[in-house]
Amino acid sequence: MNPTEKTMDKITALCKNRGFIFAGSDIYGGLANTWDYGPLGARMKNNVKDTWRKRFIQERKNSYEVDADILMHPRVWEASGHIASFSDPLLDCKECKTRHRADNLIEAFDPDAHPDRMTKEEMFQFIKDHHIPCPNCGKHNFTDIREFNLMFQTYRGVTNDSKSVIYLRPENAQGEYVNFLNVQRTMRAKLPFSIGQIGKAFRNEITPGNFTFRTIEFEQMEFQTFCKEGTDGELYEYFKAYGRQYFQDLGIAPEHLRFHDHEKLAHYAKAACDIEFLFPFGWGEINGTHNRTDYDLSRHQEYSGQNLTYLDPETGERYIPYIIESTYGLDRTVLALLCEAYDEENLGTEEKPDVRTVLHLAPAIAPYKVAVLPLSKKLAGKAMEVYEGLARRFMTDYDETGSIGKRYRREDEIGTPLCVTVDFETVGNEETPGDNCVTVRDRDTMEQVRLPIEALESYIAEKIVF
Ligand code: GAP
Repeated sequence: MNPTEKTMDKITALCKNRGFIFAGSDIYGGLANTWDYGPLGARMKNNVKDTWRKRFIQERKNSYEVDADILMHPRVWEASGHIASFSDPLLDCKECKTRHRADNLIEAFDPDAHPDRMTKEEMFQFIKDHHIPCPNCGKHNFTDIREFNLMFQTYRGVTNDSKSVIYLRPENAQGEYVNFLNVQRTMRAKLPFSIGQIGKAFRNEITPGNFTFRTIEFEQMEFQTFCKEGTDGELYEYFKAYGRQYFQDLGIAPEHLRFHDHEKLAHYAKAACDIEFLFPFGWGEINGTHNRTDYDLSRHQEYSGQNLTYLDPETGERYIPYIIESTYGLDRTVLALLCEAYDEENLGTEEKPDVRTVLHLAPAIAPYKVAVLPLSKKLAGKAMEVYEGLARRFMTDYDETGSIGKRYRREDEIGTPLCVTVDFETVGNEETPGDNCVTVRDRDTMEQVRLPIEALESYIAEKIVF
């Protein structure tokens, strides 16, 4: 293996050691498929949310954000079809009692087989015919395939009976759909218009998943565009391209992104396409664009008894709008951005390597925008003054320990785009007055420029524009 190769192990270790992402419930030995964002990870995640809000809400006319409850009326999930069809095909190994997803077993055995086109019975037959072994114990002795619903179920109130069953939402989308009328009326919105939302979703995933790629609790940034039937095809293509551009604007190289059209469609969709990112473990979905037709609003009209039609002011027609959904997994986006940004550069020679680990994060999503580093502790007073000035506007780090070279490397490793060094020339001495300038070092090029302190704020602001 190339020693500077990008691997999930290295990225996971950096996340853990530098305060991005920790194992969930760490002191209890962790809880499978749960992760906690540390100070830098939480900051980065919020920065990604800000970029999404800017692109999807602020810069788009007729786009509105809501913040709906995670707990919704149980009838919502009957109407949406999740109670009937939101399930995974699972089977158990009778030998070692581990549980597996049938489609995953098939895909791991033969990447060209298409379990997404198979029925439950066909998947079982394929596993049997090819004598696919259990990934845990290597034996081939499975139960039949059963469908397991992925929704988390709990009870409201004090009695655990079927009347008090309530679900944690498995997708944000329904929070937007049940508010279609409220938003349309209060915003006096005309089609096409969009409702977006950032928030948690929960799925009882049984398959372990590549760090934060597949978890049981995760955040989605979802965007639903309500439109007239007939305009749906064009909007669907438009949002596929818009999503791809958004990821490129966040700093992902075009060759690390690809579209993947779905053959087997979810119960609500007429067309579906994922954007996949090339993770160190292979291609993985980070976004989905779905043409959900008038399925969702028709079902909610039927189950709620409310009239969810739209009165077209131009034609006087009443109809149920179509929905084009553009959904982003926030945790997967953060993971993709960390994987894309991770780099090890040998600044030395082959014989005498000097490896710099650096996160080339787009400045808009970097946890810290700038770090203030006094060349000597004697300069701490002036450096703190600079720090306090910048911290009013930007997330700013301050570090006065260790050699300046080591401090640069520490900031490179967490993706800080700019380092500002306060030196003796900044403050001057009894004979020579200070120049009130600082040295600004760029993370990616490592080039340095000298700037007056008062010019710093606009210099940094320009660099971090998204
Ligand atoms: N409202 C449509 C919907 O939920 P989805 O493809 O099931 O569609 C949307 O999920 C996005 O949510 C995915 O593209 C992925 O980024 C993210 N996602 C889904 N399941 C996830 C999980 N178990 N862990 C982390 N992210 C997940």
